[in-house]
Amino acid sequence: MKLLSLTLRQFRNHVSSGFAFGAASNVLLGKNGQGKTNVLEAVSYLCLTKSFYAGADATAVHCGTSMFEVEGDFVSDVNVRHRVRIVYDEQMRQKHFFINASEITKLSEVIGLFPIVVLSPENNSITFGSPSERRKFADLVMAQSSKAYVEDMMEYKRVLRQRNKILSDARGNDCSAVLAPWTEMLIRHGSAIIHRRNTFLNEFVTYVEKAYDAVAHNEERPSLRYVPQIDVSGAMDRDAIAAALHLLADRKQADERRTGSTLFGPQRDDIAFSIDGLPLREYASQGQHKTYLIALKIAEFWYLKERCAELPIILFDDVFSELDETRSHQLLEMLAPMGQTFITTTSERIFQGVRQWDDEHRKFYIRSGTVVLQEDAA
Ligand SMILES: Nc1ncnc2c1ncn2[C@@H]1O[C@H](COP(=O)(O)OP(=O)(O)OP(=O)(O)O)[C@@H](O)[C@H]1O
Ligand SMILES: [Mg+2]
Repeated sequence: MKLLSLTLRQFRNHVSSGFAFGAASNVLLGKNGQGKTNVLEAVSYLCLTKSFYAGADATAVHCGTSMFEVEGDFVSDVNVRHRVRIVYDEQMRQKHFFINASEITKLSEVIGLFPIVVLSPENNSITFGSPSERRKFADLVMAQSSKAYVEDMMEYKRVLRQRNKILSDARGNDCSAVLAPWTEMLIRHGSAIIHRRNTFLNEFVTYVEKAYDAVAHNEERPSLRYVPQIDVSGAMDRDAIAAALHLLADRKQADERRTGSTLFGPQRDDIAFSIDGLPLREYASQGQHKTYLIALKIAEFWYLKERCAELPIILFDDVFSELDETRSHQLLEMLAPMGQTFITTTSERIFQGVRQWDDEHRKFYIRSGTVVLQEDAA
C-alpha cells in the first residue's frame, strides 16, 4: 500500500496543506512545533480512523473552526486506487469515513485495509509504561491482521462494561443471579482473546528476535513472554483457558463484590519484555529501551507484511533524534526495502550524503502548518 497524495483541511495547525508523496521515503523537515507530527497524525486518521496517540478528535480541529477534513489517494500493491476521506464535525461530534465516495458506517471495518506501523515518542510507554500500553500495542498488531480479533475485542469490551455496571450498581450486595450470564459471556469472549494473544505472542517473539539482531547485531538476546492471569504454558486450547477462567472467576467473587468491578480476564494481561533474561523495565538502559522498541516496530512490519494483503506504510515520528549517527544510518538502511516510509525530523543531517532526493525519495519543509518547499526530481 502506498499513499500518493494527502490533503489536510483545518486539521490542527494546517489550514490547507497538500502533499504529493514519493513511493519510497518522505521526509518532513522543520523546526519544533511547525506541524510535522500533525501530518503523520492525519495519515493515521486515514488508516486507523483515529489519531495514533490518544488524542480526542475534537483537539485535531483547527482552533476557531468546527470541522476537519483529511483526504488521501492510496494505491494498493496490485495497483488499485482508493480515495479515502475522513470528516469530523465537532458540533455533532461525528466522524464520517469514506472510501471511494461510499460512507463506511462501521469504522472498525477499516482497520487492516490500510495497514500502518507507527513509531513515535509516545510509544516509549510500550516498554516504560503500564501493562495497558503493552496490551494496546499487541491489540493493534492483531487487529490490523485479523478481523475476527477486532470483533472478539469489541464484543468483550461490551460485555465487560455491562458486567462492571452490574457489579458497581449492586454496591456490595449479592448480584450473582444477574451476573451469572454475563460471567459466562465474559469467559467465552475472554478465552477467545487469551487464546489468540497466546498464539500471536508465541509467533511474534521470533520476529522480535530477528529484528533485534538486525538492529543490535547479536550483542544481546531479547525475549518476550505473555503474562495472563492464568497459566497458559503448554498448548492450551480455548476450552482449557475457559475452564481456568471459571476457577479464577470463583476465586475472585468476594473481591469483585467488594470492589464493584471485574477482577479477571484479558484486560489484566501483561507482556514481559526482557534482554538477556533481565526484565526490560527494571534493568535496561535508555538505548536498550529504544532498540527494543524499534525491534518491536520492525517485527510488527514483518508480521503484518506476511498477514495483510498490503505492505504496511511506516510512520516514524522523531525516531532519529535519539540515535547516534551510526545507528541512524543503520536504521535508514533497514527501512530502505520496507516500502513507503514517512519520517519527521528537525535536522537533515542524517540524510546528507546517504540520500538523493528524486521522484521516489522526497522531502518537505513544514513551517507554521504550511508546506514551504517540496523537493523531488522536478
Ligand atoms: N487544533 C489545533 N489548532 C491549531 N493549531 C494546533 C492545533 N493542535 C495543535 N496545534 C499546533 O500545532 C503545532 C504542533 O504541531 P506538531 O506537533 O505537528 O509539531 P512538530 O513539527 O511535529 O514539532 P516537534 O518537532 O516539536 O515535534 C503547535 O504549534 C500547536 O500549537
Ligand atoms: Mg513532532
